[in-house]
Amino acid sequence: MDNLTAQISPSVHFIGAFDPKIRTFDIIMKTANGSSYNSYIVRGSEGVAIMDTVKKEFSNDFFSRLESLCSYDEIKYIVLHHLEPDHSGALEELMNRAPRAKLIISGRAVIMLKGIIKTDIPFETANTGKKISLGDKTIEFLSTPFLHWPDTMSSYLHEDKVLFSGDVFGSHYYDERLFDDEVGDFSYAFKYYYEHIMRPFKKYVLEALNLYSRFEIKTIAPLHGPILRTNPQFYINKYQEWSSDARFRKNTFGNKMLSVFYMSSYDNTHKMAEVIMEGADTIDGIVASMYDLASLDERNMIDLLEESDAIIIGSPTINGDAVKPAWDLLSCMAFLESQGKVGASFGSYGWTGEAPEMLHDRMRWLKFRLPVKPIKIKLIPTEEELNECFVFGKEVAEITMGKMVEMEI
Ligand code: FEO
Repeated sequence: MDNLTAQISPSVHFIGAFDPKIRTFDIIMKTANGSSYNSYIVRGSEGVAIMDTVKKEFSNDFFSRLESLCSYDEIKYIVLHHLEPDHSGALEELMNRAPRAKLIISGRAVIMLKGIIKTDIPFETANTGKKISLGDKTIEFLSTPFLHWPDTMSSYLHEDKVLFSGDVFGSHYYDERLFDDEVGDFSYAFKYYYEHIMRPFKKYVLEALNLYSRFEIKTIAPLHGPILRTNPQFYINKYQEWSSDARFRKNTFGNKMLSVFYMSSYDNTHKMAEVIMEGADTIDGIVASMYDLASLDERNMIDLLEESDAIIIGSPTINGDAVKPAWDLLSCMAFLESQGKVGASFGSYGWTGEAPEMLHDRMRWLKFRLPVKPIKIKLIPTEEELNECFVFGKEVAEITMGKMVEMEI
């Protein structure tokens, strides 16, 4: 290990760890440039605070850096901005080494603490407005839940104007030069991180930005990737822009967007999709579109799902299942908020025809509104059946526009 303990501000140093070899994070994220587990030490006239720890395997680096800057007796507070293991991995050992330190976690973290640390340890909770003092330094806490765990909080060091933002403004990007003006171009990693970690929680991002706006921020110290010191407002503006609905709807002129996604083996589910879309498009205020899942990549799936107010999925049934691209489409909802979107499903089948029901069930778990029953048709749809599809599309569109239905199905 090198002896990197870079100074972030007059009273803050980096004591985190680098993970250049990691290539997949949290199962779902690619990390072409590795990552870092950022941890910081804040020194005041009456002791120090340790801001987060690191992933357990990197504890030695963390403790070496910490010991080069303070003795364990000096540690007055240990702050965990959330309890995810990549930041709480060295907590138990740190508490053993610094028994006089007080652990500070958010109120929402209390029920998680026991799941992470299997023994009872003393702690104190912090919510927005709580402050702790290190003598001549004051740290104020801000409740910023779901960014990216429910228990996440941020904090602000008043005298140095440093925002400890937790995962917010992070990047999975390893570069020991540490600061945004010294590392390589990490812009792709900054955006990718937002899209995979923060995007499902846009409304919470906006609430956090609102809290941050109370403070003059000179440096943003996130939990992963470069420390942002050149122009913090640039990064704040990016989050504001990406979290604002204004960037969507640009092609629909204020209309609601209804998307029909489908796959078809023998053109039958495709025929149904066309007529469902036509029916939906007759409703004022709806712009209906259709997409063949055979040719849609994941990035486009995510964007279209996010922009759509209603999502209708069509799949044939093959070996008692919906086809893989339909499941892939719904797996993209992991990156989005589905609550409130209208959902429906359909499909042509040869033998058993389970696919529409299966997709309907999955959408229920994903918290879609499901006001109409799935529609399934044996092999080639007749004129009469296509009329049913037309009415089905119309009905979903009307409900999307606010038509009341008695109950969800
Ligand atoms: Fe980097 Fe949500 O942990």
